[in-house]
Amino acid sequence: MRVSIVSLGTLLLPLVSSQASSGPDKDGKYWIYGEGLTAAFIPYGASISNLFINDRYGIRRDIVAGFDNASYYGIDKQHPHFGGVPGRYANRIKNSSFEIDGVTYHIPANENPTPDHPDGVDTLHGGPNGWDWRNFTVVSHTNNSITFSIVDPDGEMGFPGEVVSYITYTLGNMTWDLKMVAIPTTKKTPIMLSSHTYWNLDGFANNETDLVLNHTFYMPYSGQRVGVDNILIPTGDILANQPGSVNDFWSAPKQIGSSFGDPEIQGNCGFNCSGYDTCWLVNREQYGPYDWRADGGFVARLQSAWSGIQLDVYSDQEAFQMYSCNGQNGSMALKNTQGLSKGPRTIPKYGCVVLEVEDWIDAINQPEWQRASKQIYEPGGDPYVLQASYRFSINTTDTPY
Ligand SMILES: *[C@@H]1O[C@H](CO)[C@@H](O)[C@H](O)[C@H]1NC(C)=O
Ligand SMILES: *[C@@H]1O[C@H](CO)[C@@H](O)[C@H](O)[C@H]1NC(C)=O
Ligand SMILES: *[C@@H]1O[C@H](CO)[C@@H](O)[C@H](O)[C@H]1NC(C)=O
Ligand SMILES: *[C@@H]1O[C@H](CO)[C@@H](O)[C@H](O)[C@H]1NC(C)=O
Ligand SMILES: *[C@@H]1O[C@H](CO)[C@@H](O)[C@H](O)[C@H]1NC(C)=O
Ligand SMILES: *[C@@H]1O[C@H](CO)[C@@H](O)[C@H](O)[C@H]1NC(C)=O
Ligand SMILES: *[C@@H]1O[C@H](CO)[C@@H](O)[C@H](O)[C@H]1NC(C)=O
Ligand SMILES: *[C@@H]1O[C@H](CO)[C@@H](O)[C@H](O)[C@H]1NC(C)=O
Ligand SMILES: *[C@@H]1O[C@H](CO)[C@@H](O)[C@H](O)[C@H]1NC(C)=O
Ligand SMILES: *[C@@H]1O[C@H](CO)[C@@H](O)[C@H](O)[C@H]1NC(C)=O
Repeated sequence: MRVSIVSLGTLLLPLVSSQASSGPDKDGKYWIYGEGLTAAFIPYGASISNLFINDRYGIRRDIVAGFDNASYYGIDKQHPHFGGVPGRYANRIKNSSFEIDGVTYHIPANENPTPDHPDGVDTLHGGPNGWDWRNFTVVSHTNNSITFSIVDPDGEMGFPGEVVSYITYTLGNMTWDLKMVAIPTTKKTPIMLSSHTYWNLDGFANNETDLVLNHTFYMPYSGQRVGVDNILIPTGDILANQPGSVNDFWSAPKQIGSSFGDPEIQGNCGFNCSGYDTCWLVNREQYGPYDWRADGGFVARLQSAWSGIQLDVYSDQEAFQMYSCNGQNGSMALKNTQGLSKGPRTIPKYGCVVLEVEDWIDAINQPEWQRASKQIYEPGGDPYVLQASYRFSINTTDTPY
């Protein structure tokens, strides 16, 4: 562990837990407990690996995707970013480059390969050795919380300067709280983090459909979204989500699959892709100053009438990505804690949904958006901070289908 962390301690979190840690189980997982929730985390990507909650019938469900053991995360070749923290810069970076103070930085590409660019033409989730490809250090582990840290060296994945980060997860009474802090110690650098959890609120055990297209989704502040090209790189345009259109989840809640009959869904998530991999803006300032934990409530709500499980996402972030698992194709196995005993024990296309609290994607390449203060951090300045609270409940208003 680097000494540089110590001087940051007062700002952040206890460096050493005063409570005894039980350490990882035989599968390398660290368990924490709340009222009504139990979760397991692993050092690889500071990822959530299991999240147990009882459904409307009192049946225990594991509602996040992952692997059965911590050692497999680094072995699996598909690397779906299961439940981790993408960093130091989440989502896509156009042309794998950005400019700070007149200096252009080129970073490794890892998406959309072409004959001319066999590694790709853009950088996804911090590059081929982004944060969620590395084991974090467990600095604290108590009955209801775990804190991970990472020291990302100067020049790693082409990014300028060292960044030190702490990720804390806490379970409460049907709540999972996230706090992420990151500090550049030597140079000005872009930072944008997120949590990349794959949800299926039926625990992949719905005996009528193995898809999430019947999950209801609602983002009351998201009348606008980031316009993208056919490889999902922002064009700079901010688009309106007209009521009733494919990307309208703000005017009223609707099922994720309810616009799949609309021709506009085709190409909505890139070339030849039907579904969602979309960054919506979260516009709350229009109502004046707010406390993200209380005023105005959640920025996103996901519900399944089948299980009755409802997830309300509260966050201080000003954008929100939803990905409807368009890229899954049955090649990822379920954990032994989920699914039905019969049928394929794998994740199908549209079998899960990723919800990502984040800032406006690739704003480092869109200076006209004027978001430098939310994306570029420097030693001595404010730290990068992301906070979110996932609040669970059982809602049986809707009849199960
Ligand atoms: C851990 O937390 C859970 C849920 O709050 C509680 O039921 C349990 O007694 C706690 N265990 C210990 C050892 O404190
Ligand atoms: C770890 O999990 C993977 C995938 O879930 C499984 O294939 C493998 O057999 C497990 N290994 C051990 C040692 O349990
Ligand atoms: C990361 O941790 C896992 C177990 O949690 C271990 O199997 C793996 O070898 C570690 N990887 C590295 C690069 O240290
Ligand atoms: C993309 O990056 C390459 C270097 O990696 C550079 O030569 C090229 O000019 C950049 N293209 C655009 C459109 O910025
Ligand atoms: C958890 O919250 C519920 C409803 O908000 C409340 O009735 C219950 O007493 C709480 N449980 C604990 C242990 O605080
Ligand atoms: C499907 O699951 C529901 C909820 O767990 C259960 O009530 C029902 O009996 C199941 N149906 C079949 C045919 O197994
Ligand atoms: C478009 O997607 C469909 C279904 O995913 C696939 O069968 C087809 O080959 C794709 N077409 C092209 C041109 O990539
Ligand atoms: C499924 O997707 C994975 C990851 O993108 C890919 O490696 C694999 O070839 C695909 N399998 C099929 C049958 O398309
Ligand atoms: C339950 O879901 C319904 C339908 O989406 C919604 O109107 C209601 O507010 C929810 N109830 C709670 C307590 O969140
Ligand atoms: C999913 O919802 C659609 C439309 O609301 C409905 O027609 C369909 O029966 C539902 N699917 C299942 C498996 O219940």
